[in-house]
Amino acid sequence: MRRALTAVLGAGALLLAMLVTVALPASAAPGTLKEAAAATGRVFGAAAAQAHMGESAYVSTLDREFNQLTPENEMKWDTTEPSRNSFNFGPADQLVSHAQAQGMKIRGHTLVWHQQLPGWAGGISSRDDLLSAMRNHIAKEAGHFAGKVAYWDVVNEAFQDGGSGARRDSVFQRVIGDGYIEEAFRAARAADPTAKLCYNDYNIDGQNAKSNAVYTMVKDFKARGVPIDCVGLQAHLTLGNVPADMQANMQRFAALGVDVHITELDIRMSTPADASKLATQANDYKKVVSACLAVSRCTVITVWGITDKYSWIPDVFPGEGAALLFDNNYAKKPAYDASLQALGGQDPGDPGDPGDPGTVTCTYTRTAQWNTGFNGQVTITAGATAIGSWTVVMTMGSGQQITTLWNGNATTTGNVVTVRPVAWNGNLAPGASASFGFSVNASNGNLADPAISCGSP
Ligand code: XIL
Repeated sequence: MRRALTAVLGAGALLLAMLVTVALPASAAPGTLKEAAAATGRVFGAAAAQAHMGESAYVSTLDREFNQLTPENEMKWDTTEPSRNSFNFGPADQLVSHAQAQGMKIRGHTLVWHQQLPGWAGGISSRDDLLSAMRNHIAKEAGHFAGKVAYWDVVNEAFQDGGSGARRDSVFQRVIGDGYIEEAFRAARAADPTAKLCYNDYNIDGQNAKSNAVYTMVKDFKARGVPIDCVGLQAHLTLGNVPADMQANMQRFAALGVDVHITELDIRMSTPADASKLATQANDYKKVVSACLAVSRCTVITVWGITDKYSWIPDVFPGEGAALLFDNNYAKKPAYDASLQALGGQDPGDPGDPGDPGTVTCTYTRTAQWNTGFNGQVTITAGATAIGSWTVVMTMGSGQQITTLWNGNATTTGNVVTVRPVAWNGNLAPGASASFGFSVNASNGNLADPAISCGSP
């Protein structure tokens, strides 16, 4: 009897040990964007629209992955003050209470902007009148949300696009003049002393004439004690074009003593999407997330929407889209996995998800090198599920050309090389591997390793 009991206990302990072994890898790395970001002291947010909050997949994806919410339109002037001094906070209040119930931070967007501005405000032509309308708008709106909003985009898109570095010709600029931006920040601080106050704009992600102009303004504000706490880089980017100096740009703003937020991240491509574009996009998202992680004052990353299904891109840039982390059916895209991994997380794995690191992983080794070239080898390993094919996408450096490639089938578009199996190395049992190799000629001496991502099929 005693013996039997020991045997049962022994078996139980063994089973427990097995369970623990199986459970550990899953708990080792955070499995969602918000958890992975939180582990680095950051928040990962999304813009959300009240109109979609009745859709369960929309809400469950929002709640599972994001810990910061930006109302996509509900806090804009035309919604909150459609006629003078008559306020409507209903739609925004609903989003705010959802966010609060979920423990999400709220980004207020936006108090002063030349777009989605009601006609009555756009038509004011006296300086005193517009200044008092703007101050009243800020006092009432920021006052209404005081204590609930963590960050305010106080002024949005006040600089001209392109190389001039000049202020945009808006009604505020024309009627009030340069001083309207600091007036807005002072009014926002008075209405909500705890929210962090940001200046937000697009095409200021890298160093250029426009971001230089914003930099000069922020430096001046800090020197004169105008209340500003952060700069928002919208980061509406196009495929393959993450500015190489994005990190340096964030660093120079941080050095002025302000936080840096990536506020409206999306990376659009010509539609339809395909495996090679999605792989480039994944690499782009990874670059943006990594640049933020390298700057301690980059504390917020927010994507401009949850799913490609409702992204603003196709409406504004016809023929483009697929810019976000979840596709039209809320499936995780390769860009999701790349972002999560860049944050130090790991998807616990859902089989069939093309970019899922649990499905297939690949490693790259340089096997030889000389002055004007090198040989590389890529090994593809199946995860817990058998696979029937794989795709490896390599982005080559400038001046690099693949001269030969063995044990794989390559197609090349520009500097992107997509490699698929030959007849005999596509089928991989769980945990099994296949490799292909290649020679690179770089007559300019650029021996940088290619950026590599892989998926199945
Ligand atoms: C966009 C919204 O996503 C759309 O739904 C709306 O029709 C237009 O505005 N920069 C901004 C955001 O600061 O407010 C914009 O949002 C996208 C560009």
